Amino acid sequence: MGVDEAQDGGANLGTSCDLGRSLQPGERALSRRTREVVPGYAGARGGSGMKAMVVYESMFGNTEEVARAVAAGLSGHVSTYVVRAGDELSDLDQEIDLVVLGGPTHAFSMSRPKTREDAVRQGAAPALARRGIREFLGGSRAETWRGPVATFDTRVAKVRHMPGSAARKAAAVARRQGHRLVAEPVSFYVADTHGPLLSGELQRAREWGDRLGVAVEERARAHGSVP
Ligand SMILES: Cc1cc2nc3c(=O)[nH]c(=O)nc-3n(C[C@H](O)[C@H](O)[C@H](O)COP(=O)(O)O)c2cc1C
Repeated sequence: MGVDEAQDGGANLGTSCDLGRSLQPGERALSRRTREVVPGYAGARGGSGMKAMVVYESMFGNTEEVARAVAAGLSGHVSTYVVRAGDELSDLDQEIDLVVLGGPTHAFSMSRPKTREDAVRQGAAPALARRGIREFLGGSRAETWRGPVATFDTRVAKVRHMPGSAARKAAAVARRQGHRLVAEPVSFYVADTHGPLLSGELQRAREWGDRLGVAVEERARAHGSVP
């Protein structure tokens, strides 16, 4: 695909996670370095106490934008945290009700160290190449947690007819590990390797996050954990 199409070293939009917001009273940080609660999370409707975590990787900033939009949608229903896959998680515990994994499609699949190095050669920040959702899924924290998962990716629109998708690959790995998938894997589209996202994609991401939040609430209700 367009891996070779964008060797022009465009703007580096890869930013590190901004951790400006502090936790609400009584909440525990998921990571000392990277805790981040989505504004308006509110434990939303009636303080259900349910939690979702959006774990993303992003070399040029597009998947990060989508991750935040998904989290904004989720946060109308459950407490929602956003973390970069490369950050050390001190606290992926049994209390998480949903993990949403998102990454860029690289070479028809989830990124690997080599494809992330390719992205660095195309202008991404080297620090972002350290770890992706593939490594997150294979990590010891993820191994001890077997809760529900949803996956998304970003991909280049002009090759959308091609089969490769990081979201589908991540979903297959998660399913194999024993996770329940709460939604079909979904792709959000960028114009080219560096972006930008196509118009309307952030809205679609927010709506998808909203639907995931509804699904988590409905499941909790069915299991009697939410009135
Ligand atoms: C090394 C590399 C391989 C890529 N391979 C694919 C691919 O197979 N299919 C595709 O649609 N996009 C591919 N892309 C484009 C990425 O999907 C695109 O850069 C990504 O969606 C942008 O997200 P980000 O800004 O979060 O990194 C590739 C990009 C890079 C850097």
